[in-house]
Amino acid sequence: MIERHSEHLPVLLNETVAALAIKEDGFYVDGTFGRGGHARVMLSQLSEKGRLLGLDKDPAAIAEGQRLAQQDSRFSIEQCSFADLAEPINGRLWQGKVDGILLDIGVSSPQLDVAERGFSFQKEGPLDMRMDPDSGMSAAQWLATAEMGEIAVVLKTLGEERFSKRIARAIVETREQSPLTTTTQLAALIEKASPFREKHKHPATRTFQAIRIYINNELEDLKIALEQSLNVLAVGGRLAVISFHSLEDRIVKRYFRDQARGDDFPAHFPVTADQLNPRIRLIGKAIKASEAELIMNPRARSAVLRVVEKLA
Ligand SMILES: C[S@@+](CC[C@H](N)C(=O)[O-])C[C@H]1O[C@@H](n2cnc3c(N)ncnc32)[C@H](O)[C@@H]1O
Repeated sequence: MIERHSEHLPVLLNETVAALAIKEDGFYVDGTFGRGGHARVMLSQLSEKGRLLGLDKDPAAIAEGQRLAQQDSRFSIEQCSFADLAEPINGRLWQGKVDGILLDIGVSSPQLDVAERGFSFQKEGPLDMRMDPDSGMSAAQWLATAEMGEIAVVLKTLGEERFSKRIARAIVETREQSPLTTTTQLAALIEKASPFREKHKHPATRTFQAIRIYINNELEDLKIALEQSLNVLAVGGRLAVISFHSLEDRIVKRYFRDQARGDDFPAHFPVTADQLNPRIRLIGKAIKASEAELIMNPRARSAVLRVVEKLA
């Protein structure tokens, strides 16, 4: 895999690490290691006894994590989806003992910037978009075989694309002539099929987002990871989630709200708040990037951090 120089500026770095309230001897998990921006600061707050496990699907992130693991024996890394986080945690006998988990979901800057990964409609590259290019179907494979109706539904539901049907039709008509293989080919097709442009938004933005979320199973993985995280956390352990668009944030917000509310009794049932067995408590409100951070890193604009603490 070709990796050109591309930095990832960690988003909401100080806010996230502060909200995890790191215990120096604790066990921590960074479920989205990326280039280790958050992980390195988490490690700096751990003692010799503290441990940090990094996870990522992306082989380039794993390579970076392996370099860090060689330098710091408190850190280890595994390649897997955060939806499977219980496995490496159980393997380390950490279940019920984890003091904090971070999920900084979405794509990293190197993924967007390296044309060969196929995430960006602005860079000519193969239509891939897989977080782990060695597993599952690439965007090109899916677009070559999916039915028009299925493509339209994905673009509508995961990209909130109003011209989903027109774009799906254009994809199917084009692939009947020749296969869709590159990012710029798809971007040009979308531009042609869209009757008008949103202000400050390339017409391909929503379609690319939708295809990426779909082929990486991002929303389903997130739902599973939230549940697994609460299962493995110690009482008093914290879960911090940074999401980058409204579909993800809605999942996180609703899940946290339901778990903080506790058991679902019928309305007017005579129970007090603590008899509802809430599983977590919300730590503060949703946090967004400061103006100062946005000047340094415009990609932080849509980031939302939510944090909870496990009660029981
Ligand atoms: C926004 S970046 C994280 C950046 C990281 N916090 C840092 O400071 O370098 C998101 C990372 O999550 C990874 N990722 C996305 N979905 C994943 C999943 N289901 N399981 C594991 N890693 C995932 C991506 O490969 C990417 O490296």
